[in-house]
Amino acid sequence: MVSSSLFARWAALASLVGPSLAATTEEWKHRSVYQVMTDRFSRTDGSLTYPCNTTEGLYCGGTWQGLINKLDYIQGMNFDAVMISPVMENIPGRVSYGEAYHGYWPLDLYNLNSHFGTHEDLLDLSAALHNRSMYLLVDMVINNMAYMTYGNDPATTINYTVFTPFNSSTYFHSYCIITNWNNYTDAQLCQTGDDEVALPDLFTEHEVVQDLLESWSKDLVETYSIDGLRIDAAKSVTPSFLPKYVDAVGGWMTGEVMDSRASIVCDYQNNYLPSLPNYPLYYSMLTAFISNNISALLAETQEIKNLCDDPTAMAVFSEDQDIARFASLDDDMALAKNVITFVILFDGVSMIYQGQEQHLKGDGVPSNREAMWLAGYNETSELYLLIKSLNAIRKHAYNLDNTYSDQQSINIYEGSSELAFWKGTYGRQVIMVINNQGSTGGAYSLTLPMTYGAGTAVTEVLTCGNYTVNDNSELIVEMDAGLPRVFFPTAYMEGSGICGYNYSNVSYADLKLKNAGESTSLGVQSSTVPSVLLSLLLSLMVGLFVGSL
Ligand SMILES: *[C@@H]1O[C@H](CO)[C@@H](O)[C@H](O)[C@H]1NC(C)=O
Ligand SMILES: *[C@@H]1O[C@H](CO)[C@@H](O)[C@H](O)[C@H]1NC(C)=O
Ligand SMILES: *[C@@H]1O[C@H](CO)[C@@H](O)[C@H](O)[C@H]1NC(C)=O
Ligand SMILES: *[C@@H]1O[C@H](CO)[C@@H](O)[C@H](O)[C@H]1NC(C)=O
Ligand SMILES: *[C@@H]1O[C@H](CO)[C@@H](O)[C@H](O)[C@H]1NC(C)=O
Ligand SMILES: *[C@@H]1O[C@H](CO)[C@@H](O)[C@H](O)[C@H]1NC(C)=O
Ligand SMILES: *[C@@H]1O[C@H](CO)[C@@H](O)[C@H](O)[C@H]1NC(C)=O
Ligand SMILES: *[C@@H]1O[C@H](CO)[C@@H](O)[C@H](O)[C@H]1NC(C)=O
Ligand SMILES: *[C@@H]1O[C@H](CO)[C@@H](O)[C@H](O)[C@H]1NC(C)=O
Ligand SMILES: *[C@@H]1O[C@H](CO)[C@@H](O)[C@H](O)[C@H]1NC(C)=O
Repeated sequence: MVSSSLFARWAALASLVGPSLAATTEEWKHRSVYQVMTDRFSRTDGSLTYPCNTTEGLYCGGTWQGLINKLDYIQGMNFDAVMISPVMENIPGRVSYGEAYHGYWPLDLYNLNSHFGTHEDLLDLSAALHNRSMYLLVDMVINNMAYMTYGNDPATTINYTVFTPFNSSTYFHSYCIITNWNNYTDAQLCQTGDDEVALPDLFTEHEVVQDLLESWSKDLVETYSIDGLRIDAAKSVTPSFLPKYVDAVGGWMTGEVMDSRASIVCDYQNNYLPSLPNYPLYYSMLTAFISNNISALLAETQEIKNLCDDPTAMAVFSEDQDIARFASLDDDMALAKNVITFVILFDGVSMIYQGQEQHLKGDGVPSNREAMWLAGYNETSELYLLIKSLNAIRKHAYNLDNTYSDQQSINIYEGSSELAFWKGTYGRQVIMVINNQGSTGGAYSLTLPMTYGAGTAVTEVLTCGNYTVNDNSELIVEMDAGLPRVFFPTAYMEGSGICGYNYSNVSYADLKLKNAGESTSLGVQSSTVPSVLLSLLLSLMVGLFVGSL
């Protein structure tokens, strides 16, 4: 069953560009995604004890049906999108480090991975998500197929006739292994595989290959009402094919180019793809929170602002299926809270990888692919509750002001260990204060210079504490134990679903009217922005324009 708003969207799109069901970049920007590794999230039988040894790398039995049964757990954190592992049939068999449980070893594009479920199950998952107004994001492999070579030379071992539809070597680049990942030509023409599993590289310059990939993807998106795609290994796909693929398939796509340089990643956004996982920002989070250099994070946000056409369409994350979990590098709970606060409230589509909410500690592939059922689905764990509040204020800010997700964050404070950002329209902006002190950080006050109008009552949404902005538009923030702080005007908290306010899709106009009837009117409009703030803002904006030249 498709919700009426989805249907309306489909009808509107269909009348313009033919049947493409995927949601647009604009529709995605305000979404917050929970990334599931299908095999490791939830089993159909609901077992909480079924063994899963990440080192062995075998299928552990997670399914689409198991995921459907756990949507309350995900939606309980206020996520409004779910990403799943690649869905196509993968190669059977086992090598020394395991099986194709992750979904990245395609065999037959026209069949589903039966370990994850049936055609009906995937339809049911899509319907169950849409019924909750949540989006479905599917990971896609368009760079390669896979073949177990067990140490034999791939050049003479691969039997191409087993692949569907790419059943001949003519669909592939001739065999070579990537030797230098920083040489993009090498990364595009050669293979990403290893001694045991070759990943024959599709000849994505060829029109025949392009057409087959496009029609397969379009069909999949339509059949299962998929709302958006992650493009695996986009770095290894011929760049000129990417925009053709985007146009043909439609909708928001975020393509994996694992590179720490904003110059490279932004170049991809500006020329080839609407969005990319923001790896430059991820690497600078490591520098900020693990190597203790918070200014590197600020510098990176400015670099991205200068180089990327639209930072608000990028995907922001601090963990995924390929990288060491943050807690494996430092398991301090306060640091984890700061990182997650930044991921959810900074510009872009936020992505949280399953298990982050339980502070899991897997240190890279394959140990970062823990079975969630063994971790327990604790709905009162500290990070579960934090994410729930952060997603709530993010969604509320957007509901009150649909331009929220398009607006870029403005840095309003930089200390030796702290950064503060403002996001949204003045008077109803979200302000976050993050720091890298860790839980041994002491108690002190921090003066934020440009916040809301003098006298504004403000709620700190993570502790539900009450603050009042002073006569100089300053907010004196009580810091303690390295915890992050997040502020929103109290007058507009109604409808947020946090700090005792029930959730409702209330409009800004309603709240303004309501507040106007009260003595402490806080209905701030841009014309009432104090001049001291306005000049500060203007100088910031001039800085941005100069920076982007
Ligand atoms: C997981 O599998 C590895 C490799 O077979 C083995 O060495 C290890 O003891 C297993 N761990 C557990 C907890 O069973
Ligand atoms: C849709 O949601 C309603 C209300 O929660 C529920 O009763 C119904 O079973 C759901 N339908 C699907 C297809 O998930
Ligand atoms: C290649 O695979 C096809 C289809 O599975 C099979 O019929 C054929 O015997 C295989 N060829 C070789 C040389 O193994
Ligand atoms: C490849 O698949 C196509 C379409 O199914 C078929 O017509 C063709 O004979 C196959 N080629 C080989 C080499 O198996
Ligand atoms: C990059 O890789 C390509 C293809 O493997 C190779 O021809 C080229 O020489 C490499 N360039 C550099 C600078 O190493
Ligand atoms: C912190 O990072 C910034 C930006 O990358 C750099 O300029 C600075 O030298 C670094 N500071 C330290 C102490 O390493
Ligand atoms: C869930 O997490 C909370 C907070 O850490 C803890 O008090 C509680 O015991 C946990 N529940 C279970 C079932 O582990
Ligand atoms: C904050 O203010 C609200 C009403 O404005 C009140 O209900 C709440 O108890 C206050 N919270 C604290 C922690 O004092
Ligand atoms: C929130 O909703 C509950 C249940 O519907 C209701 O009892 C309560 O009065 C509401 N609280 C507020 C502040 O509106
Ligand atoms: C909230 O209301 C706005 C405006 O009335 C509407 O555009 C939006 O779709 C609603 N959101 C939800 C989740 O119902």
